Amino acid sequence: MRIFRSSFPEGFVFGAATAAYQIEGASFGGAGSCHWDTFAATPGNVLRAEDGARACDHYHRWPEDLDLVRDGGFDAYRFSTSWARVMPEGRGAPNQEALDFYDRLVDGMLERGLKPYHTLYHWDLPSALADLGGWTNADSPKWFGDYAEVISGRIGDRVASTATINEPWCVAWLSHFLGHHAPGLRDIRAAARAMHHILLAHAEAMERLRGLGLGNLGIVLNFTPAEPASDTPADLAATARQDAIANRWFIEAIAKGSYPEEALEGMAPHLPEGWQDDLGRISAPIDWLGVNYYTRGLIQQGEGPWPQISDAEGRRAKTQMGWEIYPEGLSGLLQRLSREFVGDLPLYVTENGMAWNDRIENGACFDPERIDYIDRHLSAALAALDCGANLKGFFYWSLLDNFEWAFGYERRFGLIHVDFDTFARTPKASYHELRSALGK
Ligand code: FCB
Repeated sequence: MRIFRSSFPEGFVFGAATAAYQIEGASFGGAGSCHWDTFAATPGNVLRAEDGARACDHYHRWPEDLDLVRDGGFDAYRFSTSWARVMPEGRGAPNQEALDFYDRLVDGMLERGLKPYHTLYHWDLPSALADLGGWTNADSPKWFGDYAEVISGRIGDRVASTATINEPWCVAWLSHFLGHHAPGLRDIRAAARAMHHILLAHAEAMERLRGLGLGNLGIVLNFTPAEPASDTPADLAATARQDAIANRWFIEAIAKGSYPEEALEGMAPHLPEGWQDDLGRISAPIDWLGVNYYTRGLIQQGEGPWPQISDAEGRRAKTQMGWEIYPEGLSGLLQRLSREFVGDLPLYVTENGMAWNDRIENGACFDPERIDYIDRHLSAALAALDCGANLKGFFYWSLLDNFEWAFGYERRFGLIHVDFDTFARTPKASYHELRSALGK
């Protein structure tokens, strides 16, 4: 790698990220059913019909996993807590075993000198709440606030930061309009409601956590810079709609208290009544913004009803996900966010990484593609810093190969290879390379 810790400002945070459902093993420890369990149990939703029942068995192997984070030279570990584990019925009595588990996990990070970066919601909605309409239900923000208070009441005193929601676009649009993630709906009214309620849930959790006296609170948004496939007026307009729905909806609401016109033109008729009155709460100040970046989108005019967006085929090298490798997009994005939305609010790249068909040969896993990907994206982060973006840290997605949602265990994002039969962990070449770049 050409990039080293010393290339970055003093105090810049390097971390690795995971999420509860993707690694813990949802069948362990008295967790309640979540909508990913039932989505995965429905034929056709997940590649090879896999699920998160055992995942990486992190629930039992977490000490070994935290040792690997420490030994990789990282400063911080981004993890999430599972709502369905903490409150098996979604509301009411918490599962003491879950609270004890997360308590030990956070202490385990501190004992290893790692800063805990906590995410409250990384998609494990309890099934009992899915039965009530999940994020389409106007009460969902309050349910979420109750959960946030319970878990942060237990571990909030020791975490370095808390994010309310991971990737609200995926929670709302990908899952209720495009149907790719749980609950697998394809319905504009459900999607519009979820697009609003998830932001209200963020607002509710911010208020509850501030009420507990906790600081360093933020949200993690995913951005896929939208570029037009051609310069025809139709493709340019489709790109503006895509940008409004995927990139501007959430940050504009939080930073400016408004929704973008190009998205409202299709969404407004389906939003809950009185939505305008909620934007004041939604735009309450945050302490930092998390940015998840993987690739760009090449957009063209699509068919059918609004929003008439379709993806065009990119020409650059792609990862195992079929995502174009486009590091310039990261520097452009960080600069745009600073310039147009958040000024000098601290930014963190909370996820960036790539999937590859990694294999173990002679006991080792050689992944030069990932080393190059990381090197180029860290360079892009440095370029953004040079242009004045207030970037404070960078988390690689992911520490471990894990349950990659609708793609099951086939798509490997980890710095560490996981054998899903034996649960053996094998650090890949990228782990070793990054570790030496970080000075360990
Ligand atoms: C993000 C998710 C994360 C992982 C990566 C590849 O959208 O936050 O859980 O699936 O993509």
